[in-house]
Amino acid sequence: MLKADENRRLTQVGPGTPMGQVFRHYWLPACLSSELEAGGGPRLVELLGERMVAFRSPSGEVGIVAEPCPHRGASLLLARNEECGLRCIYHGWKVDGAGKLVDAPTNRNPERIAQVVRHAAYPAVERGGVVWTHLGPPEQRGPFRAFKWAVQPASHVQLIKVAMDANWAQAMESLVDSAHVSYLHADLVRSGAGAETAEWTGTGQVRNTADGAPHLEIEDTAYGFRYGAIRRPLTGADTHRYVRTTVVVAPNFVCIASPEGRGHFEAYIPIDDHRSMFYSVHYTTHRPFDEQDRRGILEWYGGRPGLDVDENFRKVRNPDNGWLQDRERMRLGETYTGLFGILNQDHAAVESMGPIVDRAKEHLGPTDVAVIRFRRMMLRAARDVESGGVPIGADQDLPYESLDAAEGLVRLDAPWQEVISDGLAGAAAGPSATAYG
Ligand code: FES
Ligand SMILES: [Fe+2]
Repeated sequence: MLKADENRRLTQVGPGTPMGQVFRHYWLPACLSSELEAGGGPRLVELLGERMVAFRSPSGEVGIVAEPCPHRGASLLLARNEECGLRCIYHGWKVDGAGKLVDAPTNRNPERIAQVVRHAAYPAVERGGVVWTHLGPPEQRGPFRAFKWAVQPASHVQLIKVAMDANWAQAMESLVDSAHVSYLHADLVRSGAGAETAEWTGTGQVRNTADGAPHLEIEDTAYGFRYGAIRRPLTGADTHRYVRTTVVVAPNFVCIASPEGRGHFEAYIPIDDHRSMFYSVHYTTHRPFDEQDRRGILEWYGGRPGLDVDENFRKVRNPDNGWLQDRERMRLGETYTGLFGILNQDHAAVESMGPIVDRAKEHLGPTDVAVIRFRRMMLRAARDVESGGVPIGADQDLPYESLDAAEGLVRLDAPWQEVISDGLAGAAAGPSATAYG
């Protein structure tokens, strides 16, 4: 439960807000690399309540600048994408990717006006098929966090990007909520005795547990926290417990345990206070994905471009049509939720709460402890920034490329951390780790 003022502090991300200041310390996904064609049209990037345009120059460099033209505010989404910058179609002013005004043909002395005009521009880094940017001032720019997927070749990565009509924190809470998997995703994550770790069937996962009330144990790290969701396994319960870890990287990345040879990260990036952009990243570390792999992931998620998601990353299944919940298939017992695909199930549950849920009215239980820890971590980060500090992990150059989540059977007398072998968490949870009670 959060009081109204805490709920506001957690959810508001615009310029000048405490959480907005937290986010302006981290590198964030702005768009997919594939959205930007060399010399093609600029793309709208909405991030933290601000509007920008991203573009790829005819020679291939990516630039991100504020949307309104510095002359009189026409949208640079309409601009001509010329060599070395965007030229506004209204009166021909041109800004480059660094925000420099390089031409102002309506002025008799364009050089002079260029000296006084400075257009807002943001850094752009391309990694893992994503264009990343940073909205804070240069002195707040910490090291770029190159997660394991961001250093894989494109052949090893499958990206899904979909807009959500809900606040970023509400969406993030679904990623740190292990218990919902047994219900909301019951059709797609099934129980099956035998295998020690989850098995990928091509259209879903089979896990060695049917325990719908996991016990969560949490530990803080220098980059956020991680937890073990502990369940009774279907086989070996006399001697072992089934553990799935989730790794939470502040402010908004989560690493999810995957079947052998696969990796999985998810994030919700705040568009504004009421909308967020979902990125789901699936990757392999030892071989490229083939077409069947990619189809399987996209279908499992319900994220097939053109079929489930349009070119503006809007879902076909959305609040306006009740997420196309199929009551007939529910009646026939063919599906638990009547909803197609993991992402549509998550989005339906989160969007159904309204854009910003009233956290004063909720009734949290034992399986919600990671949700509580997430809120505390972020509210603490907001306080840290307000008192002149740096939010958790933003200034630390940790070996993020080795960060991974894990799952498996652990002996009853052993700690849950025994399933983890990424080598990072131990190092990261050193003296700089912050305790969040
Ligand atoms: S508004 Fe862009 S050049 Fe005038
Ligand atoms: Fe989910």
